[in-house]
Amino acid sequence: AFEVKIASSGRVIQVAADKSVTQALAEQGIEVLTSCEQGVCGTCITRVLEGECDHRDLYFTDDEKAKHDQFTPCCSRAKSKLLVLDL
Ligand code: FES
Repeated sequence: AFEVKIASSGRVIQVAADKSVTQALAEQGIEVLTSCEQGVCGTCITRVLEGECDHRDLYFTDDEKAKHDQFTPCCSRAKSKLLVLDL
């Protein structure tokens, strides 16, 4: 499990191992628009302000992934304990 922090509110939300980031956010009333939920379409792309992403999408190039400044929360996760999201 890891945590995501909502930059605008400072809220910290736990993401359990069996939940996606978008599921964990939705349970707390924070909706991120999704479509494919498989890391293909890019609909859910969210900016990452801090932390290291565990990219599991097929959307970004390797160079884009290496920047850790955006990710697909429908399927991607975190390598660091915390990701700060620009939400
Ligand atoms: Fe398609 Fe996340 S919903 S990449």
